[in-house]
Amino acid sequence: MPTEPRDADALPFEGMDAPVKKRRSRKATQPAEPKTRAVSTDPARERVRPIPDPVTLHSHGPARVLALCNQKGGVGKTTSTINLGAALAEFGRRVLLVDFDPQGALSVGLGVYPHQLDMTIYNALMERRTNGDDVLLKTGVAGMDLLPSNIDLSAAEVQLVNEVAREQALARVLGPLLPRYDYVLIDCQPSLGLLTINALTAAHGVIVPLECEFFSLRGVALLLDTIEKVQERLNPELRVEGILATMYDARTLHAREVFSRVVDAFGDTVFQTVIARTVRFPETTVAGEPITSWAPQSPGATAYRDLAREVLARS
Ligand SMILES: Nc1ncnc2c1ncn2[C@@H]1O[C@H](COP(=O)(O)OP(=O)(O)OP(=O)(O)O)[C@@H](O)[C@H]1O
Ligand SMILES: [Mg+2]
Repeated sequence: MPTEPRDADALPFEGMDAPVKKRRSRKATQPAEPKTRAVSTDPARERVRPIPDPVTLHSHGPARVLALCNQKGGVGKTTSTINLGAALAEFGRRVLLVDFDPQGALSVGLGVYPHQLDMTIYNALMERRTNGDDVLLKTGVAGMDLLPSNIDLSAAEVQLVNEVAREQALARVLGPLLPRYDYVLIDCQPSLGLLTINALTAAHGVIVPLECEFFSLRGVALLLDTIEKVQERLNPELRVEGILATMYDARTLHAREVFSRVVDAFGDTVFQTVIARTVRFPETTVAGEPITSWAPQSPGATAYRDLAREVLARS
């Protein structure tokens, strides 16, 4: 799996200035040698190949655990967790979503009000007598369950520091649940702290949602470095399942260039499915349901179904 390059000098945007810088340098040195390749056609469209139809399952489990992780905020981790989960459930997979962000956005996105909950993933992590089943909720999507969270989880980050095997706390909670599910998707918070390390320790694969703009690329090297450390020290099975381009706007040259650079650097690790920028996603958060049921025929719903096919084909 090509997860190189890892150091900041070899980032995929090397030779590509930030938009502001680029404008300045152009003025100063007219006529300018273009530093970026002109991407006149849509590079995302050019990569599209047929994805096989998922096979029908006659039995379930054990689950493959995928963490949706990027320490940058607002890149589409939660949106992708909900909608990939719902699309996998449509394909007959049993799915467990884990809200592993104290903000509780995943829970809210599924119509659960986190501040009204007595028990959350925090209790299962920290109390020896509480297990995952005590916390588990059904969602409005058939075949998809939720381990919710709320602000209590922020205390776990501090309290876990003094625990034995503090990085394995989530893996211990998930272990007994895995035989019942086909996929467990963990929605990480935007940091590389102890909660995220717990998610990476419990996971088989990492999906990295990446917004197609210059500044999103900067954190990727650090994230890959963290994944490599977890691989070496805690979880040798961990791999990068795929990089997912989100909030993609094919009309802007910048987004096309960034996408092209990411593909040059990471090759087939980048999912061919890209998630376009559309106002339908913020709408679904208000509605408290996935786009696959809120707007089943929309391009956003189709994209997450395509992503689900790709994820199934890769596993
Ligand atoms: N493809 C998209 N097009 C337009 N808006 C989107 C898209 N995907 C997500 N959004 C919106 O962008 C915002 C951030 O998305 P989301 O919450 O999924 O990101 P996140 O990475 O989980 O954020 P955080 O790091 O804060 O947890 C939300 O308001 C969401 O509705
Ligand atoms: Mg989120």
